[in-house]
Amino acid sequence: MKNSALSIAPARGRLGVLLPGMGAVASTLIAGVELAKKGLGRPIGSLTQMQTIRLGKRYENRAPLIKDFVPLAGLKDLVFGGWDLFPDSMLEAAKKAAVLEPAQIDAVSRELSAVKPWTAAFDPAYLHNLKSSHVKKGTKWEWAQEIKADIDRFRKKTGAERLVMLWLGSTEVLPPASRVHGSLAAFERGLKENSPDIPASMVYAYAAVSMGIPYGNGAPNLSADVPALAELAQKTGAPVCGKDLKTGQTLMKTTIAPMLRARMLALRGWYSTNILGNRDGEVLDDPGSFKTKEKSKLSALESILDAKTYPDLYGRYYHKVRIDYYPPRGDAKEGWDNIDIAGWMGMPMQIKINFLCRDSILAAPLALDLVLFLDLAKRAGLSGVQEWLSFYFKSPQCRPDLKPEHDVFIQHWKLKNTLRLLMGEEVLDHSGLDYYDARGAVPSAAPARLFGSGKEGKNRKKTAGGGQKTV
Ligand SMILES: NC(=O)c1ccc[n+]([C@@H]2O[C@H](COP(=O)([O-])OP(=O)(O)OC[C@H]3O[C@@H](n4cnc5c(N)ncnc54)[C@H](O)[C@@H]3O)[C@@H](O)[C@H]2O)c1
Repeated sequence: MKNSALSIAPARGRLGVLLPGMGAVASTLIAGVELAKKGLGRPIGSLTQMQTIRLGKRYENRAPLIKDFVPLAGLKDLVFGGWDLFPDSMLEAAKKAAVLEPAQIDAVSRELSAVKPWTAAFDPAYLHNLKSSHVKKGTKWEWAQEIKADIDRFRKKTGAERLVMLWLGSTEVLPPASRVHGSLAAFERGLKENSPDIPASMVYAYAAVSMGIPYGNGAPNLSADVPALAELAQKTGAPVCGKDLKTGQTLMKTTIAPMLRARMLALRGWYSTNILGNRDGEVLDDPGSFKTKEKSKLSALESILDAKTYPDLYGRYYHKVRIDYYPPRGDAKEGWDNIDIAGWMGMPMQIKINFLCRDSILAAPLALDLVLFLDLAKRAGLSGVQEWLSFYFKSPQCRPDLKPEHDVFIQHWKLKNTLRLLMGEEVLDHSGLDYYDARGAVPSAAPARLFGSGKEGKNRKKTAGGGQKTV
């Protein structure tokens, strides 16, 4: 069914990208954007830059690039700023992370060296394996005011018309459940009293959301996923999304598990192990930070397989996730999955996956898409939790009374249908019956496109197709 398009403000002027945490992923993102701007690299892995979106019926052959369909900021309009525990410029950070080739980094060295992180808001109780003196002083309330002042200075200096904040900082230890997170009033009191229950990532989220700036969370920290900040987002109209970028092993998990469930194949055990040697790996070597990550990684499988509905198939499987810090590998992570499954008459079978990936190479395009889609959400007047961006996350943030959607295919579908809705296009349900309805319900353009010149289909207006069943 045809929808009316939402009114979306144009993506005019510069978009300021604010990154708390400027390590491997952030420097790979910035270097990649600068390389792409110069035509020296392609943004592979980014839906906003490379994917098309089908519109209308299959015979209409309308499939523009997403970036030509929805009004997104262009790469040339992005300007970067952020905070880190280390004062390294993005050139130094990119060299240390050694994700991209030296020649690629050299080609954008001027742009990278111009981006230098501001002092960080930092509570060492939530991050044990890193030490820093490049930090803000005072109470957590004062940190929030300083972060806002950093943002204002950046806005003036760069002339950015709009802003988006994306947490790409380390994985913090989860805070204890606390009344401080329960309401905005309690949270603001907690900031002023320097509550130990407020980790730094929540202070950045608070600062952004209170300024109406969209906030995304690339790590499994709670950050904006507490009632206090949800209340603030509703008040200021800021879109928020999270948590934890879905890159390597969980991407594989949320691809394979829907297949097992769709085919009603039983799961007996899933053993996952990873080695990685970057700074993220060093942080995750601490049991507190690992626990946050483990929780995020375990939940996807449980939610997709749904043991309550299928106790015979998924009620008793053993699931283990390990991450080992192994410095020689740097960012070139290796993941192994051994999956014990069972089929007809309970006969056992195995699947083995050995994924030799590159952490930040998989994460950077997700970060880019999130920045562009969060900015789109803001201009479209969407506020609060943006569940349609679940596609990008291991632990998708959603309304507290809903179960998050983990199946990567449903997430992808949800994302594209949301874009169709925003632009007043038909939402696709892929049922397909009306193509074959012999009683005359075949959509009128079908014969023309299939058997005629085809011009009739091509000449249809962008928003045509109203009232037809969607396939
Ligand atoms: N790379 C991936 O595939 C991937 C996937 C999912 C999630 N993540 C998450 O994304 C985050 C970034 O990953 P990375 O590989 O770039 O890690 P990294 O260690 O290279 O960079 C993180 C940076 O955050 C900084 N930082 C920590 N606390 C901070 C604070 N309070 N304020 C400002 N800066 C702070 C650290 O100094 C560090 O430079 C991690 O939390 C990681 O778990 C990464």
